[in-house]
Amino acid sequence: MIISSPQDYREAARRKLPPFLFHYIDGGAYAEQTLKRNVEDFRDIALRQRVLQDMTSLNLETRLFDETLRLPVILAPVGLTGMYARRGEVQAARAAASRGVPFTLSTVSVCPIEEVAPAIDRPMWFQLYVLRDRGFMKNALERAKAAGVTTLVFTVDMPTPGARYRDAHSGMSGPNAALRRMAQAATHPAWAWDVGLNGRPHDLGNVSAYLGKSTGLADYIGWLGQNFDPSISWKDLQWIRDFWDGPMIIKGILDPDDARDAVSFGADGIVVSNHGGRQLDGVLSSAWAIGPIADAVKGDLKILLDSGVRNGLDVVRAIALGADAVLLGRAFIYALAAGGEAGVANVLDLFEKEMRVAMTLTGAKSIADITPDRLAAKSL
Ligand code: GLV
Repeated sequence: MIISSPQDYREAARRKLPPFLFHYIDGGAYAEQTLKRNVEDFRDIALRQRVLQDMTSLNLETRLFDETLRLPVILAPVGLTGMYARRGEVQAARAAASRGVPFTLSTVSVCPIEEVAPAIDRPMWFQLYVLRDRGFMKNALERAKAAGVTTLVFTVDMPTPGARYRDAHSGMSGPNAALRRMAQAATHPAWAWDVGLNGRPHDLGNVSAYLGKSTGLADYIGWLGQNFDPSISWKDLQWIRDFWDGPMIIKGILDPDDARDAVSFGADGIVVSNHGGRQLDGVLSSAWAIGPIADAVKGDLKILLDSGVRNGLDVVRAIALGADAVLLGRAFIYALAAGGEAGVANVLDLFEKEMRVAMTLTGAKSIADITPDRLAAKSL
């Protein structure tokens, strides 16, 4: 199929993947209203066109936590990335490094920290959940440090899981899930050969290394489910702040009061995020949430954003709304599923091209130049 835009990868991924994997990445929580609004609210934000501004040289570089990013884009942590392509975390990390942007490894990745970090020539970012098993958390942090991880992304919007109804229908969970997944693999032979067979082991790499035994897909939901910790509060994070001397980013902030608490806590950054519409359906989209958050804390810490960014124009919109950089989740996973490392590199190139056009036609010569007045007063 012809790929001409980042969005094309979604359809390409749908064709290639067994449905349980496509719906796991594509779906959201409950009625998926927030998932939908994440995308629509960005789409509705009008850019302010400017012309005749001599836009011959554009600079898309940005500095973030002592790193130079060729684009203000980071690959988000996505659980089970290694089920979407053969050793998928390694392929995605390589593509990100080749395009000069960071890759964030999820706690619940297939490939362990020790497999991914040495495969790239720039520091990897690592994501951690708040889990009941503090021993695991400490072990993961120690291993991340040893592997040269610089930046820690701490996900705080999962004290309890949001219900993903699509997963039960698709065979990701629910009755006879394992059988249904096998049947789906049989009807998707390209995936079955490349990933199902040759992409093994399908472990939760980081968890298996800690438990000293293999943990497969069947354990994924179960292990996470038992490990969510609804008792968590800011004071429980203090030991991590004390342990981790690199940048620490709190992911899952939607409210200015929580953003202020993140500043008081001493976070280096936040991710304005509703977990891609995968947690509490009915909350604000990131596009709507970021404005008041930026008013409250801009300049006190770095503001990142995810949830709803599907193309380069959205990146420009997010930055104009107050973000310093954005994280891509689904946008890179679709490309990874469809085209592996080359697919991810290509989708990043497409994002860059789209950003260049948006910057040229809004008169923004650099990322710092993408200020709120690049947006039109009226929305679409
Ligand atoms: C895990 O964080 C998920 O969103 O599935």
